[in-house]
Amino acid sequence: MTNCLLLYYTGTFNTRYVTNILKSRLEKVDFNVETYEIDPLNTERLDLSKYDIIGLGYPIYGYNAPWPFLKFILKQKFPKGMKVFIYKNSGETEIANDASSISVVHKLRFNGAVCKNEYHFLMPYNIHFRFDENLVKEMLDMDEKLYDILVYEITHDIPNIKKYKLFPRFVAFWVKIQFIGGDINSFLYKVHHDKCTHCGLCIKRCPTKNIYENKKGQVAFHHNCLMCMRCSFFCPTAAIDIGFLQGWKVNGRYDFAKIRQLKLDKPYITKDTKGFFKCYIKTYDYINTRHKEIFGE
Ligand SMILES: Cc1cc2nc3c(=O)[nH]c(=O)nc-3n(C[C@H](O)[C@H](O)[C@H](O)COP(=O)(O)O)c2cc1C
Ligand code: SF4
Ligand code: SF4
Repeated sequence: MTNCLLLYYTGTFNTRYVTNILKSRLEKVDFNVETYEIDPLNTERLDLSKYDIIGLGYPIYGYNAPWPFLKFILKQKFPKGMKVFIYKNSGETEIANDASSISVVHKLRFNGAVCKNEYHFLMPYNIHFRFDENLVKEMLDMDEKLYDILVYEITHDIPNIKKYKLFPRFVAFWVKIQFIGGDINSFLYKVHHDKCTHCGLCIKRCPTKNIYENKKGQVAFHHNCLMCMRCSFFCPTAAIDIGFLQGWKVNGRYDFAKIRQLKLDKPYITKDTKGFFKCYIKTYDYINTRHKEIFGE
């Protein structure tokens, strides 16, 4: 039995969703899997010595791993030579997104672990714009193949790590949106009081307890925001204004259970896809080709 820990950070629960599927996939090949969701207010040191392998999951933020995730990893002491793999996720697959692993791999090396595998799952945007459900369905189908690849490569000890060229590393270094964005932007967060129904969901769910009810009984913000988007994404009345990113706000969860049942008449991404989603062509090609190499048709 292989003891495995899936250690992850999530803002709007896409990474939790990926983690739960990965857990059940690994259990099918007799892994004993525990999960641990990082709480930004509790950077405790875990006993990692009881695991044979650790998976690290995170959403990509501005081409980087989220700061609370990096902070948590830095705090840990990995047993020497511990096997680690990365399973990150994000909305689009530009190469600078992949470069987000560089700082994670460096921090792991510094802390004694060896990362030989990394996988980039496709999950819809929780910021910028809402994805069409047909595309989300196609992404989830592609992810199914990527879980297969991950499980196969991990169980057969096949490394899969990318080498990043200078340009994506350069872009990833400079676009650390949440490192400054959270601190500055949190002064601009506000609630449209005419829309707020005082359901309390945002207060209850904010991972840093950054939201409270003031003396006037209005929902208000402190200045300890991680830009995770949990409050504005799940607010049932879209009452939260996210400052300079308001034009990029996405409100309302994606119903993955329902989306998975959709039947697609035609592919959303084709070889002729232009513009924003062009980067998916290469990603789909890679996943399909690797899947075929391992499992045949
Ligand atoms: C502050 C912030 C920055 C983001 N930056 C990127 C990005 O650079 N590239 C990308 O493809 N998606 C980006 N996203 C989208 C998320 O990576 C994506 O929606 C992810 O699935 C969210 O996972 P979570 O629900 O576990 O937080 C960003 C989201 C946030 C909140
Ligand atoms: S989640 Fe939205 S409606 Fe509910 S208390 Fe917060 S701002 Fe108001
Ligand atoms: S205020 Fe909203 S975006 Fe900021 S940390 Fe809390 S839930 Fe996340």
